[in-house]
Formats: sequence, structure tokens, C-alpha cells
Amino acid sequence: MSAHDLLYVVPKSTPPKVVRGEGVYLYTDDNKKILDGTGGAAVSSLGYGNHEVIDSMKTQAEKLCYVHNMSFTNEPAEELAHMLVSKNPDVFARAYFANSGSEAVESALKFVLQYWQLRGQPERCHFVSRKQSYHGNTLFALGIGKMVPRRTPYINVYPKVTSYVDPCYTYRYQKEGETDEQYVYRLEKQLEDEFLVVGPNRIAAFIAETVPGTCLGCTTAVDGYFKAVRRVCDKYDIILILDEVMCGLGRTGTYHAWEQEGIAPDIQTNAKTLAAGYQPISSVLIGHRIFKAFEESNVQMANFHTYQAHPLACSAAVQVQKIVRRDKLVERAAETGKYLGEKLHQTFDSHPHVGDVRGKGLFWGLEFVNDKKTKQWFDPQLKVAALVSKLGIKNGLFLNPGSGTYDGVHGDHIMVAPPYVITKEEVNSLISILSKSIDEAIASLPN
Ligand SMILES: Cc1ncc(COP(=O)(O)O)c(C=O)c1O
Repeated sequence: MSAHDLLYVVPKSTPPKVVRGEGVYLYTDDNKKILDGTGGAAVSSLGYGNHEVIDSMKTQAEKLCYVHNMSFTNEPAEELAHMLVSKNPDVFARAYFANSGSEAVESALKFVLQYWQLRGQPERCHFVSRKQSYHGNTLFALGIGKMVPRRTPYINVYPKVTSYVDPCYTYRYQKEGETDEQYVYRLEKQLEDEFLVVGPNRIAAFIAETVPGTCLGCTTAVDGYFKAVRRVCDKYDIILILDEVMCGLGRTGTYHAWEQEGIAPDIQTNAKTLAAGYQPISSVLIGHRIFKAFEESNVQMANFHTYQAHPLACSAAVQVQKIVRRDKLVERAAETGKYLGEKLHQTFDSHPHVGDVRGKGLFWGLEFVNDKKTKQWFDPQLKVAALVSKLGIKNGLFLNPGSGTYDGVHGDHIMVAPPYVITKEEVNSLISILSKSIDEAIASLPN
């Protein structure tokens, strides 16, 4: 069988072939054992090869794999919706299931647009988003986000309905001597000014990742930031969309990351750990305000996908979420995450090329710098984060790299987001391989 009929990320570069996964480890066809330190793309919460999930999928597969969702409902989808909505009945009214995070974001944006039409304000079709945000790879989601390398090839076709404000990114954007309160005030004012420039009556929603992953590497918001965001959105009757595709469902140590911010969204997206990689599935949790408009008008939802609310995918997610709740894995993520955070700080705070260690729960980022004092980044051509990741794989550890951290072009980071079931011994092993890989990467750079 030719290994070259498949399109690889870099067409001429064949990646290692993984043939098996067990616990936090992946195994390649040449018997290499790799600790998956980011659970793929922060997907794997239960680790690989969980037999309870596999068995429940087998049972569901025998009964029903697919059914046309425009004409029928199905038991796993109903059960999953109930599990998610009933957890926060004051916030959410309904759940919708798609296949990927991008589809969830795209659907949330479309639900919001249809909501404003139903409310008789179709001119509300502008979205305010944040710089260095990633909301997915379909054109609308990519257009709303600001991930430079993935957006650039399609720059001419994005709808002109988005403008951007700064993210809450203390390491780079909080000024010297500025208190957290002053920083929050500055960001709040910037957001309000943007609303006023566009015209609040034209704005459909503000969208943000509660804890950004892909582009910013787990920059946690300072206290009060999301309260300020909620305040400004409420003042102008603007919908707040929180994208928790990567940071949600336990990753940051609470079921929803926004629970730590003292606010709630009007609509929310999740994916990644929903079925923990056992099936592709994502969700949109729809708040009461939005659902009420749909319910009252009783219109057909315009947004539809063939595989939405897929029974097999939903059954995998139900089983994953049952295990997460039964085994108290969110609490475990918080506890192990505390240990991981302490170890990362101990090991890398004084590292000359690690400028910042940040994160919460099992969602951490290291930002690399050429000069720690001036925070000068490495030349983007050196692709430092990708190099650390590549050497990590050689040394038996996978970590997801990111670049463009500072402004979409400059800056490098790596994400540490292991499965919730990782043990402290495995955390120790992760840290020591990471340390070795960073040092090897730096040593290999040209002087
Ligand atoms: C916050 C966020 N939103 C959306 C997406 C898109 O998800 P997917 O790759 O499943 O389409 C991602 C993927 O990393 C993400 O991190």
C-alpha cells in the first residue's frame, strides 16, 4: 500500500504513522512510544483505548449509526442534550450537535444572525472578535478569527462583517506598572469604543475564546475582564458568544471555563473533549434569550448539516461525559493541573528562552523568547515552536506548537494539555522530555 496517496500537511513530508493508542501514549508502526502531552489538539481527555467508550459505541452501532436529522430524532442525541443543558438550566435552553468545532462556531454565528432577523433587526450582522483568536477553519469561522497563516490564502473572500479588539494578554499587552483593574478598564473601553464606531445597532455579537489556545497558547484573562465584557455587551444588547471548543468541558478545571469568570454566555460552542476523539462531534449550547425567539416564531432552523446529531457520535459523547462525571475527572484535571502548573513554573520560570508560563487546569502554554529581558521573539523563519515539537516527538513526547503569538506573525509558544487521566509520574516524565527538547531546539539554532 502506497503511503503517498494521502495529502499531508506538508506535502513532501511524511509524518510518523501511529497505529495504536493506550492511556496517554501513542505507538507508531516502528514501535516508538510517544506521550501525548496535548491529547492531540486538546481532544483526548480520557486517553486512548478506553473500553467503556468503545463498548458503548459497539452497542449503539448495532442499533443505529445514522438517521436523517431533519425528519427524526434519536435517543443518544436526546440524552446528550439533556446531560449538557440540565447542567446549567438557567443559562441554556437547547443543545445542537454538529461534527467539528468549526461547524459549531459557524452554526452559532448563523443562529445569532437568524435570531436578529426574527427580532426584526436584520441590520445586526457585524461581529466583533479579538486579535489572535482562532474560531475554526471553515470560511466564516476563519474570517471571524484572526489566525494569520490559516487566513492569508483566502483573504480576498472573507465577508467584511468583522472587526477586532485586543485579547486579554498580560505578558505582552499589559503595560508596565498598569494594575489589573486599569488593564481591564482599558480593554473595556476599547471594546465599547469599537461598538460605538461600528454602531451598536449593527452588531450581532462579540465572540471570544474564554481561554484562547491555538493562537495565544493559554493566556488566562485577568480577574474582572469577562465581567467587563459582559457589562458592555449587555449595555448595547449585544450577544456574547463564548467559544470553548478547546478550553471547555473540564479542560481548565471547571466544566465550563466561564464558571471561573463569574459570567455566562448567551451561546456557547464546545467540541474536542465532548467525545474525547472517539467520534467527531461538537455542540452549540443555546441560551434562553436566543431560543425563545426561535420558539416563539416556530421557524425552521436555516442551519443544517447531514450528520448533525449523529447517533453514533452522540453515544460516544454520552459515554465520555458519563465517565468524566462518574470519575470526577474535572476535579482531577484541576488537581493534576495544579501540580502540572507548579512543575512548569519550577522548571521553566528561570529558563532563559521561556518568557512566560501561563494557564490553568490542564491547559498550559509556554511562550518562547530570544531575549528574556526585552521579550524579543525569535526570527519567525526559525520556527522555534515547531522545532521543539519535532524534537519532542523524537524524544517521545507530542506537544502542539503555535506561532504568531504576539501579533499573528511573531512569537512562538507550545501548548501542554494532556488527557485528564494523566498521572503525576507521567507529568514528571512530560516535563523532563519537554525540558530536554527545548534545550536541544535552542542549541540547534544558528548563532
Ligand atoms: C477555540 C476553537 N474554536 C474552533 C476550533 C475549530 O475546531 P475544529 O478543528 O474541530 O474544526 C478550534 C480548533 O482548534 C478552536 O481551538
